Amino acid sequence: MAGTFLAGAGAAHAADLEVTHWWTSGGEAAAVSEFAKAFTENTDHNWVDGAIAGSGGTARPIIISRIIGGDPMGATQLNHGRQAEELIEAGLLTDLTELAEKEGWKDVVNPSSLLDACTYEGRIYCVPVNIHSWQWIWLSHDAYETAGLDVPADWNEFVASAPKLQEAGIVPLAMGQQSWQQNGAFGVLAIAIAGVDAWRKVVVDRDADAAMGPEYQKVFEAIVTARELAADSNVQDWNQATNMVITGKAGAQIMGDWAQGEFQIAEQVAGEDYTCLPGLGINEILDTGGDAFYFPVIDDPAVQEAQMALASTLISPDVQVAFNLKKGSLPVRGDVDLSAANDCMQKGLDILKAGGILPSGEMNLTPDTQTQIEDLMAEFWSTDMSAGDAQARYADIIRSSE
Ligand code: GAL
Repeated sequence: MAGTFLAGAGAAHAADLEVTHWWTSGGEAAAVSEFAKAFTENTDHNWVDGAIAGSGGTARPIIISRIIGGDPMGATQLNHGRQAEELIEAGLLTDLTELAEKEGWKDVVNPSSLLDACTYEGRIYCVPVNIHSWQWIWLSHDAYETAGLDVPADWNEFVASAPKLQEAGIVPLAMGQQSWQQNGAFGVLAIAIAGVDAWRKVVVDRDADAAMGPEYQKVFEAIVTARELAADSNVQDWNQATNMVITGKAGAQIMGDWAQGEFQIAEQVAGEDYTCLPGLGINEILDTGGDAFYFPVIDDPAVQEAQMALASTLISPDVQVAFNLKKGSLPVRGDVDLSAANDCMQKGLDILKAGGILPSGEMNLTPDTQTQIEDLMAEFWSTDMSAGDAQARYADIIRSSE
């Protein structure tokens, strides 16, 4: 009798929680299933997987229009930063401050900028789940062996190695033909080549004169080079480009550290099968972007209870370790054991410990400005637009950004 009663009581509060995200590559799917598993095992609630195929660029507008249009999901991934600003202003996202205070998120989240990016007018609206950085180039040992070359130690050596790769029938640079990837590579080259000071002036202070300066001129010239090295890379999705590196069809890819999830699924070992160079081997610094979960306001106590249970699960120590090891990202808590992390993650952790961090693009620029830059990059990478023209157009976008 008692058992039946308890089961009934549990069921009254159980909710089906639809969770949307854009984690559909092999490595991403393996990582998100750690969240689903922990949520289902540790609570009475059900994880209803709302994976949206494609990239963040495809998923974000769908997620946002569902929330605005009155068809909200129970929880959703976004990149923390300015993407959710308007939803928060419209009162459409749940305030998590009480839970965050109860669980002491401020004391464990490291760096604190991750929680700041979830905070709006002093209230917390998201739970950060990882630290992802864009500043990496991934190099294929197989490709370099075929070409009879040592694996390059930085971007300049990589550029110098390209003719020999091409002679061996290898595409030097794998690049998916999507604007967010082309824009991501631009950001990475900017920090590596223009340097952190110039980058800060442009992206953080929105200084259009700095965007027109000689440091940035070198960045736009480097993209013209990269565009030539990627000319024979005709894949679309980022993970198809990673796969070119995994299979030795390409020498390298500039991509965020989520690429590690793909190497792991393919059972490749960092340092043996591939090399990762933070900051393109030039400038060991990482941006600290990442993913966070937001909880749309839904007027149903069972759903609200499930939302809080999920928020709590996502940031709990064991789940942070299990998820991030598969995702290739770093945990948002400084107090968990990451001895199982691979070489590349260890490099990232060391840089983080040494304080070599920067805020991510999404934390500085509005989605509107980001879109304008992405559109420019799509055109720049796929036409013969000159470095000078691209630089002038970029400076105009920076000048008019908010
Ligand atoms: C980013 C996201 C990462 C990764 C990547 C590729 O926006 O932060 O977690 O999933 O997209 O899908």
